[in-house]
Amino acid sequence: MSESAAGPGNASANRSSSELSGESRRSFLGVLLGLGSLFVGALLSVPLLRFALFPLLRRTTELKSSPVGELSEFSSLTDPVLKTIQIEQVDGWRKTISEKAVYVTKDSQGKLCVLTSVCPHLGCTVPWNKERRQFVCPCHGATFTPDGTRVSGPSQRGMDTLESAVQDGQLQVRFQYFRQLVSDKQVIG
Ligand code: FES
Repeated sequence: MSESAAGPGNASANRSSSELSGESRRSFLGVLLGLGSLFVGALLSVPLLRFALFPLLRRTTELKSSPVGELSEFSSLTDPVLKTIQIEQVDGWRKTISEKAVYVTKDSQGKLCVLTSVCPHLGCTVPWNKERRQFVCPCHGATFTPDGTRVSGPSQRGMDTLESAVQDGQLQVRFQYFRQLVSDKQVIG
């Protein structure tokens, strides 16, 4: 009697335990499938992400050369001439065009050269002083000769020359930024 009473109970216990194990197998498979889909999705999204982020991750492009003026304009140069150039810079998806002031002058051998107007001390714009025949920085008084050589003041080096070339009768210059407060010329961008 007691065995027949225990029989159905055991059977229902066995059934519910097999249902449980079936359910847990199904949920395990579900989790496995979910993880697999996630993994495949992540793998497929890598190239797309790389494509989308490429402009942000790559280095800012180098600045292109900019025209300064006709070479004939500088043939009888006696003092440094201030020129404004336009520079184009591509940074990620963004393209910017800005204006920079440079000086066309002559180097110690009398050859044309181009100087940035950015003071190598702390970055102020250095004007040419016609009366003193020197560049005189208004911020902390650094002075430079017409070819940019340092004369006095807190700057640790002379004014920085920029790469220049003549193309089709035009003077071209490549604008660059240099590290301040150091004695040697170091390009930073
Ligand atoms: S920024 Fe030119 S002397 Fe300081």
